[in-house]
Amino acid sequence: MPETAVHLGSGKVRELYALDEERLLLVASDRISTFDVVLPTEIPDKGRVLTGLSAFWFARTGHIVPNHLLELRDDGRSLVCRRLEMLPVEVVVRGYLSGSGWKDYLATGAVCGHPLPAGLAESARLPAPIVTPATKAASGHDENIDAATASELVGADRWAEAERVALALYAFASAHAEARGIVLADTKFELGLDQEGTLVLGDEALTPDSSRFWPAATYAPGGAQPSYDKQYVRDYCERLGWDKTDPGPEVPADVVAGTRARYVEAFELLTGLAFDDYLADPQAVLR
Ligand SMILES: Nc1ncnc2c1ncn2[C@@H]1O[C@H](COP(=O)(O)OP(=O)(O)OP(=O)(O)O)[C@@H](O)[C@H]1O
Ligand SMILES: [Mg+2]
Repeated sequence: MPETAVHLGSGKVRELYALDEERLLLVASDRISTFDVVLPTEIPDKGRVLTGLSAFWFARTGHIVPNHLLELRDDGRSLVCRRLEMLPVEVVVRGYLSGSGWKDYLATGAVCGHPLPAGLAESARLPAPIVTPATKAASGHDENIDAATASELVGADRWAEAERVALALYAFASAHAEARGIVLADTKFELGLDQEGTLVLGDEALTPDSSRFWPAATYAPGGAQPSYDKQYVRDYCERLGWDKTDPGPEVPADVVAGTRARYVEAFELLTGLAFDDYLADPQAVLR
């Protein structure tokens, strides 16, 4: 009997359906957003890369924190998951100084209230990974907040638990990635509570959309690093002189192909699995 799924909404990348009271279907599209604007051009298979990688990590990190994965569908882009009450705070872990962290450091000598040694270069490895929470602002852009504000939003004990879990996930994943030639510069987790009030890892995890992955072979602090994420598309959009408001520009075929290749390469390096093998049998990523 076919399941009835009620469409709950569309994120920038995912379609959300309710299967029943307890279960959601999260379908990752091939949409790509830059500067929080969804572009009119899709990146073929991007949703499968994100879903396959998330499932790969969910299957390997259950000893650190329970996660929402119930089933990976054979289309390779859909996850059946437990419905959570998501925390109103995104949990970002940074091991390196980049992006908004670098900007914050230049302006204040600290990142989201974490004081850091003077004289660090852009993309430098931090003395130890730090957690920098963010909220979704009304504008749609994430806004960095400090730990005190995060504690107020979710409660001090819950925030301490979220920080602990996020740091442990980062330690596990960055070690795995580094052994495969990838630096996990930073990553964002979304956590929620299940019906028993247990903290559970939700959304996507440790993908090129939620993380900065850098090729370890060319890593050199002192400037921005090439990455396996949408930086390539972002750079193209910046060269056009687009004002970063909706609508975004069409992306030409060579930039689409270059972006797809980077997503697929990150998938293959991290999972050790040929992407074609994933397409033929998505469950391979869980083994
Ligand atoms: N297990 C879960 N239970 C409830 N909501 C979830 C769960 N996992 C993920 N979500 C939510 O589903 C949405 C995923 O869609 P997507 O990643 O496209 O959104 P987004 O563009 O990142 O964010 P936005 O919600 O601002 O559009 C997010 O809002 C995320 O918080
Ligand atoms: Mg998202």
